[in-house]
Amino acid sequence: MELKLNKGDGIDSWKEVTLIYNAALRQIETKMEILNEEFQHVHQYNPIEHIKARIKSPESIVKKLKRKGYESTIDNMVEHIDDIAGIRVICSFTSDIYRIVDMISEQKDIKVIGVKDYITYPKASGYKSYHMIITVPVYLSDRIVDTKVEIQIRTVAMDFWASLEHKIHYKFEGDAPEHIKNELVVCAKMVSDLDARMLSLNDEILAISRARELLTAEE
Ligand code: GTP
Ligand code: MG
Repeated sequence: MELKLNKGDGIDSWKEVTLIYNAALRQIETKMEILNEEFQHVHQYNPIEHIKARIKSPESIVKKLKRKGYESTIDNMVEHIDDIAGIRVICSFTSDIYRIVDMISEQKDIKVIGVKDYITYPKASGYKSYHMIITVPVYLSDRIVDTKVEIQIRTVAMDFWASLEHKIHYKFEGDAPEHIKNELVVCAKMVSDLDARMLSLNDEILAISRARELLTAEE
């Protein structure tokens, strides 16, 4: 990997980049786990199915900088690449996604820099997910570095779709045959229908359990 060093405002080596972004990622991961545990405690239910976290490889960072027309410097990657640290939060139901978005946004130390709601506004490909770019303060021995993390929040079904679509996109280098693209759009619609039906089933189950609890309480 060729990343030129420079005298940016703080981060000046690849090793330091990895250290800081890893720290930011771990903090967000822990925050998610805490929210999930607390939610389980209060509502007897886990909004988060699982979490995947990754640091972008130096090769992908260099490739993305080149694509955006920037030289490969530490300053440029810190400034222009928002997903060096990325975390994917997989939920059961669409309603969980917005619950998690709200819980993240309300945390005082987290700054939300930008959001993209590809659930309300899916991409032409059919892609659905809620994206947030946030910063979290990383406390070093001599300074605090507000560090960017990309959070992608989606349902299990959306994740299933996105994994296959990603594989296909990669295989055909972004130029998949028209009928495959169309089929993916049809599948995306099925994913949305499935998510909606599973959510309404779950709501019904919850309503029945609540009614039963009330009855038992009255006895
Ligand atoms: P990059 O696509 O990363 O250059 O950034 P962007 O500014 O276009 O952001 P966007 O929110 O569109 O995408 C960020 C990330 O979301 C991507 O790196 C993918 O992980 C994911 N993503 C976006 N669009 C798609 C899609 O059509 N299919 C799949 N499988 N993933 C997508
Ligand atoms: Mg993109």
